[in-house]
Amino acid sequence: MTHTATRIPDGFLWGASTAAHQIEGNNTNSDWWRKEHTPGTRIAEPSLDACDSYHRWREDMDLLADLGFTDYRFSIEWARIEPAPGHFSRAELDHYRRMVEGALERGLRPMVTLHHFTVPQWFEERGGWTADGSAELFARFAERSGAVVSEGVRHVCTINEPNMIAVMAGAAKAGDVGFPPAGLPTPDEETTEAVIAAHLAAKAALRVAAPGALIGWTIANQVYQPLPGAEEVTAAYRYPREDVFIEAAREDDWIGVQSYTRTRIGPDGPIPAPGDAERTLTQWEYYPPAVGHALRHTAAVAGDVPLIVTENGIATDDDARRIDYYTGALSEVASALDDGLDVRGYLAWSALDNYEWGSYRPTFGLIAVDARSFERTPKPSGRWLGAIGRTRELPRAAS
Ligand code: FCB
Repeated sequence: MTHTATRIPDGFLWGASTAAHQIEGNNTNSDWWRKEHTPGTRIAEPSLDACDSYHRWREDMDLLADLGFTDYRFSIEWARIEPAPGHFSRAELDHYRRMVEGALERGLRPMVTLHHFTVPQWFEERGGWTADGSAELFARFAERSGAVVSEGVRHVCTINEPNMIAVMAGAAKAGDVGFPPAGLPTPDEETTEAVIAAHLAAKAALRVAAPGALIGWTIANQVYQPLPGAEEVTAAYRYPREDVFIEAAREDDWIGVQSYTRTRIGPDGPIPAPGDAERTLTQWEYYPPAVGHALRHTAAVAGDVPLIVTENGIATDDDARRIDYYTGALSEVASALDDGLDVRGYLAWSALDNYEWGSYRPTFGLIAVDARSFERTPKPSGRWLGAIGRTRELPRAAS
């Protein structure tokens, strides 16, 4: 069956996402840098220079704009901006402000994330998210970030994947440091409450520091699918891992939907993908429809909060599979739009092959990066996806 094409609505965000620690390099004051140099974790290799985007962000943005994208999601690094408690670096705030202006000059609308998994070492030393005063400290950082985002930035994300932060905290208590955590650990409840409080405090601070910005946060959607008879088990399993964080966004200006694969749940909990299922370089099941399920589930829980796909993609070294994955995923986005879901944008993960939290092996990039020369080379998938920003027509998978 073929469908008529769905056009990308006016104002729709069309772009790619990155995170500072995964591309900047030498983020030496962050908790992750320390973890990367601590023996006994599951972290296979340290980030070191990453993609050197701290210096080469102009090249990254030139390429994205040339490819046809109109939006770029990147994060600013708290560990650089506030290297010691209460000491804010004007030079680093200026650096990120130059990035915002550089994006706008190239016709890219910046979406800025304040926190993408990394914190300053001093914040971790004083007890991390669950320590007294952590929400206030994050809100103070958000307030100072106004110098970066108060003009020309429409979308600000406070915290990326708070649900994964809570899951990682649960895993760390059990002695497992790495990402993604091994298995599907129970999220740490105290961390859940703390990151929700930090989000609300940061949102309040940004309302004053960046009054024109639309504030939200982005949730990792695992697309929990019940096997027949496991509906209740699935709902109970999903609530602390996902829905509690979506509910916390009901008063936000938008919510970010991030999905890659699915997790099927039987009567006793998650069950592995069938042995013959295609797997990606992260070992996740190849499952392009994930984004459609994630959008519909988020809409059902969040109510009428606008949805933005803030991450979606595949780790593969077969770029044709990446195009196939995005074709399937974008068909789902098209159906969601056709059905009247309030989807406001689509940002692929990721602009660049980057440091995937412990290893450079899973390559999600639309643009390849040479580890020695840092030379960037757009992949066919990057050209293909970017060009949709010009034709404005979402592809449909053959069905
Ligand atoms: C998400 C993270 C992102 C990246 C992708 C693959 O959970 O937000 O940084 O690692 O997964």
